[in-house]
Amino acid sequence: MGWSTASADTTLPDDGAHTVRVALGARAYDVLIGPGLLGKAPSLIDCRIGARRCAVVTDKNVAAWHLGPLEAGLKALGRYAGAVVLEPGEATKSFRELGPLCERLLEMSLERGDLVVALGGGVIGDLAGFAASILRRGVRYVHIPTTLLAQVDSSVGGKTGINTPQGKNLIGTFHQPSLVVTDTAVLTTLPARELRSGYAEVAKYGLIGDAAFFDWLDRNRHLILDHDAVALARAIERSVQMKAEIVARDETEAGERALLNFGHTFAHALEAWTGYSERLLHGEAVALGVCLALRLSEELQLCPAATADRVSAHLEAVGLSTRLSQIPGGDKADAIELVRLMGQDKKVRDGRLTLILARGIGQAFAMPEVDAALVREFLARELKRELHLQPRLPDG
Ligand code: NAD
Ligand code: GLY
Repeated sequence: MGWSTASADTTLPDDGAHTVRVALGARAYDVLIGPGLLGKAPSLIDCRIGARRCAVVTDKNVAAWHLGPLEAGLKALGRYAGAVVLEPGEATKSFRELGPLCERLLEMSLERGDLVVALGGGVIGDLAGFAASILRRGVRYVHIPTTLLAQVDSSVGGKTGINTPQGKNLIGTFHQPSLVVTDTAVLTTLPARELRSGYAEVAKYGLIGDAAFFDWLDRNRHLILDHDAVALARAIERSVQMKAEIVARDETEAGERALLNFGHTFAHALEAWTGYSERLLHGEAVALGVCLALRLSEELQLCPAATADRVSAHLEAVGLSTRLSQIPGGDKADAIELVRLMGQDKKVRDGRLTLILARGIGQAFAMPEVDAALVREFLARELKRELHLQPRLPDG
């Protein structure tokens, strides 16, 4: 079963936290996973990285709940350089915020040996990690991820960056954190919609490479959404193990790492199309993208019939949308525009798409050289079928 940790470098230290090692040679680091680690983060940083001044980057929502204990702990150790508290939301991952953030960090006299501590979800991790990678040509950073999505995905692997009007994450660096401290208890303050959004990335791991994990999720998804500490920790640990193993083999996405983007080529286009707004959160877009990728795999007779239906039923039971028409305004989506937006994907080569498709649950693979016309026709069929399926109210 997918739970075996035999192949992953996973240990259980005395305090009950699990450790997953991201084995990247000189850039290797640990992901510590367990309840109550936020309060211990200052001493964990001190023990594992050394006595360094720490500048915390966070957002207003996270600061209101969780900055206090971290700040107090860093102050008690004499390591606190200050905090930058940003507006929450995807719009913060921008050039507009990056410049002032870097200047604030310089004003704190953060030196090359000091640390940036990203306390927040994927937005804060991506932005603060990017800032750390360019500040004084690179300072180290620690991530304390506070959303499920960040705990299972964005905090691991060193992809940092910002969005531009041209697309998501098109400006960025690979800059690995020096330590990830994942406190599963901070998820109790996370809004339910954000928890569901992060769940899409958990399911993704089962879908790309561990069918037994997906079966386990099928039986236990309600426990995860109900914040059951054991189920949550298991789901996070298995996800992090899978990501750590893939990243260790392919740090800069020369090949296998692209599998982690299952559903993401569709998802990124949908996020751009909805203006990176509350209309569609990243994980929500991933849930939809995964279903589109599976339906296309079925249409191309790559994967058994009914696979997409099984996954859609699973995600819908979690409360995630699996059809374009379920997004607010989704009935107005246009296949030509969506494929144009998909053309900004980082996996595009000579204008042709590489899509991550599947031969079944747990069997994702990269399909290069996909003709954009084929994807356009597929999306047009999807939209037409959905319009037909949707009960419509008479005008007026
Ligand atoms: P997010 O960082 O915007 O956080 C979601 C919301 O939850 C925000 O409003 C935030 O203030 C709030 N929040 C966070 N933690 C909280 C807590 N514990 N309690 C209460 N509120 C809390 O969103 P996200 O889903 O974590 O991240 C999405 C971003 O991650 C996207 O920009 C995406 O591109 C990026 N991402 C990056 C990678 C990577 O490998 N670098 C991977 C996946 C996604
Ligand atoms: N979230 C995809 C990656 O880290 O490669």
